[in-house]
Amino acid sequence: MKRIFSGVQPTGTVTLGNYIGAFKQFTELQHDYDCVFCIVDQHAITMPQDRLALRKNIKSLAALYLAVGIDPEKSILFVQSEVPAHAQAGWMMTCIAHIGELERMTQYKDKSAGSQGVSAGLLTYPPLMAADILLYQTDIVPVGDDQKQHLELTRDLAERFNSRFNDILTVPEIRLPENGARIMALQDPLKKMSKSDPNKKSTITLLDDLKTIEKKIKSAVTDSGTDVRFDKEEKPGISNLLTIEAALTGQPVKELETKYEGASYGDFKASVAKAVTDHLAPIQERYHELVESDELDRILDEGAEKAARIANKTLRKMENGMGLGRKRK
Ligand code: AQP
Repeated sequence: MKRIFSGVQPTGTVTLGNYIGAFKQFTELQHDYDCVFCIVDQHAITMPQDRLALRKNIKSLAALYLAVGIDPEKSILFVQSEVPAHAQAGWMMTCIAHIGELERMTQYKDKSAGSQGVSAGLLTYPPLMAADILLYQTDIVPVGDDQKQHLELTRDLAERFNSRFNDILTVPEIRLPENGARIMALQDPLKKMSKSDPNKKSTITLLDDLKTIEKKIKSAVTDSGTDVRFDKEEKPGISNLLTIEAALTGQPVKELETKYEGASYGDFKASVAKAVTDHLAPIQERYHELVESDELDRILDEGAEKAARIANKTLRKMENGMGLGRKRK
């Protein structure tokens, strides 16, 4: 079976953007691929984090992975910092990355803009992400399109490593969702929906209560027109809501446009809100059963062990390839 790897940062509650761009793909792919899912807490600390909130977010994210349908019998689920090979391989990839290519990363530029005391980790985030993926000899990485640039760099680093130190690493392919590769902020549909957006009205999190979700969708920014039609340039707000409904219900956008012919924006938003709350209600129920359970810790402990077994094999090959340490038999 081909292998899939993907990671999500425990930087806040998972948004509908993360869900549609990433999690939903994971649950569909786990039946046909050997899947490894990681809670990337070492990436989270590239920005300042409150330690207690970080701990809470790690458990919460793990419970959400399971609540959306990741099956620990089929997939490996673990926390990045619990498998030391990530930091070790991350350093090796940092040493073959060039400062210029890291400085060109859009996410680095966006997150560092206007900030004082930007961490060096924010700049070296992509080589750590490359290590996360390459340690598992990953074939495919399912992500939203904001991560495309980092994935292209991962491929470049893998190829560079292979050409210098032997063909050790699998060069992964990127996989974007057909619909919803970029869900936009409700209050500013030109900007992507993000966990860390300070404007909470812009994001729907998977754990928002259902009434709040309804209110957020009803107050989403649209335009002064009246027709419900998909047009990213002229109608970014309406297009975003149509994308959300299409991704959650599986109905093509074209069919939705027909369904909403003659409908008011108010009716349209109420119907999108219903599609979202219907989809999230059972996920929330399962989440609350899991988040404080011993089962969750057991799954993460087992996940870390299984992940370490795979990662350490690649790590040894990488160390041998680069000449680190003493040659071990
Ligand atoms: N708005 C989005 N639409 C579709 N996919 C998205 N993803 C993120 N935002 C959207 C996808 O979610 C996965 C997990 O992302 P992450 O937590 O590793 O980091 P991120 O991309 O930086 O996500 P956020 O929500 O924007 O987090 P913060 O605010 O902490 O930076 C990835 O596959 C991503 O593509």
